[in-house]
Amino acid sequence: MTGTAVATAPLVRRGVAGVAGTIAAMLLAMSAIAGEAAPRRVAEPNTLVPAGVIRYAPSGFPDRIVASPAQDAATGFAVAWRTGAMVETPWLEIVEAGDSPDMGVPQRIRATTQALTTENGPAHHHRAEVGDLQPDTLYAWRVQGDRTWSPWRQLRTAAAADAPLTLLYFGDTQNKNASLTTRVTLEALRHAPDARLALYAGDLVSGGDGEDDNEWGEWFDAAGPLPSLLMVAPAAGNHEHFEEFEDTPQERRVLGAHWPSTFALPGNGARGAEATSYWFDIQGVRVVVLDGTSALDMGTAQAQAAWLEDVLDGAASRWTIALIHQPMFSPRQDRDNALLREHLLPVLERHRVDLVLQGHDHVYGRRGGPVAGQATPQYVVSVAGAKQYRLSQAARRDMSPTAEDTQLFQVLRIDGDALRYEARTATGRLYDAFSLHRDADGARRIEEHVEGRIGQRDCPRTTSPKGREDRCWE
Ligand SMILES: [Fe+2]
Repeated sequence: MTGTAVATAPLVRRGVAGVAGTIAAMLLAMSAIAGEAAPRRVAEPNTLVPAGVIRYAPSGFPDRIVASPAQDAATGFAVAWRTGAMVETPWLEIVEAGDSPDMGVPQRIRATTQALTTENGPAHHHRAEVGDLQPDTLYAWRVQGDRTWSPWRQLRTAAAADAPLTLLYFGDTQNKNASLTTRVTLEALRHAPDARLALYAGDLVSGGDGEDDNEWGEWFDAAGPLPSLLMVAPAAGNHEHFEEFEDTPQERRVLGAHWPSTFALPGNGARGAEATSYWFDIQGVRVVVLDGTSALDMGTAQAQAAWLEDVLDGAASRWTIALIHQPMFSPRQDRDNALLREHLLPVLERHRVDLVLQGHDHVYGRRGGPVAGQATPQYVVSVAGAKQYRLSQAARRDMSPTAEDTQLFQVLRIDGDALRYEARTATGRLYDAFSLHRDADGARRIEEHVEGRIGQRDCPRTTSPKGREDRCWE
């Protein structure tokens, strides 16, 4: 298998106690449905895959197809996909999209291949980089499997710097992706069918429970057509990392094997966090993606801060957005990422990054920075998935709006000197909205849009279904 890197995902046997607990909870729910007026709410298992069932075995048919921006999203993107281990260094084909079913003679690009063995068997993950494309052009492309191809996909490259841009931002998806994140994706696409980019703020899956690969399968199910309809830029969360040599003196945090196999990212990141930090330009917006876990637990906070400084120094873009999993200001009780504030926050503030988009805390909260009267950065924490925590008192005091017990997605529309931000709930209702206006001298002004927002949402339960007082839903 020349030229093929091999990695193995951590295989952890699903605990017998966990399965017994799930069965007990299901029985409780069934008896409740049969005999009581108000059945107790119970937590779903983390995936829809029953124990012992193989749902996501790799095969000759390409799956998990995801496009991500190149450093210049106007002229390139990269695609990752998965097949069974019988497929080595397959092709990607691309052509300018036309209206005839005759796709002409496409350009062919050879992929590189990495092997990954999981609970679903041996897979090959492929990566192909497409460059030298025309801006604002619709391309048709497909990826190769074993004696077959994926369906043709169509994706538009980024346009000129001053063209209007719509993008999506999702907080943690993490748990029960197929069951409960799917509806959020579909609602987001309904509200922003013109989106060119989707930002994911980390913890895409939960992991570490022996069914990591099922969870990644569900993440792609939940994302539906999105990952090849537009470009995906994910930040890595703590759940994309795991503890190696756990409970030994050698214990250390390492990046999970799925991450570098699953996404084809630009690879222009900070020293020590090359696989998880990167930047790109898209239609006058510079997007910088940081790895908070690596900064907090793997000693790269200073290296990422220095790199961030360079990337922002070199930005000629009209707008800048930073994406990081762990928040600068944590809205959840008993969480504080002081190291991020020590190293990264001063850079974000000095460069007046417009938006710092974050996740990790499984609530919603927005606030400005520490400098009074300065409109930017706006720091946002959001959550797309099922897991819901509780707000701290400090968050209720310092952030507005805030929310508990709410699945959300965000639509950002940038047009020239205005950036409009909207957070919507899983049913599409408006929860938060504001605009940033860029004045002639580059200064920012914020305009709150309160009209049409629904009211404050707080957790209506005293404990989560599993009885935890610090959570609202599992
Ligand atoms: Fe997290």
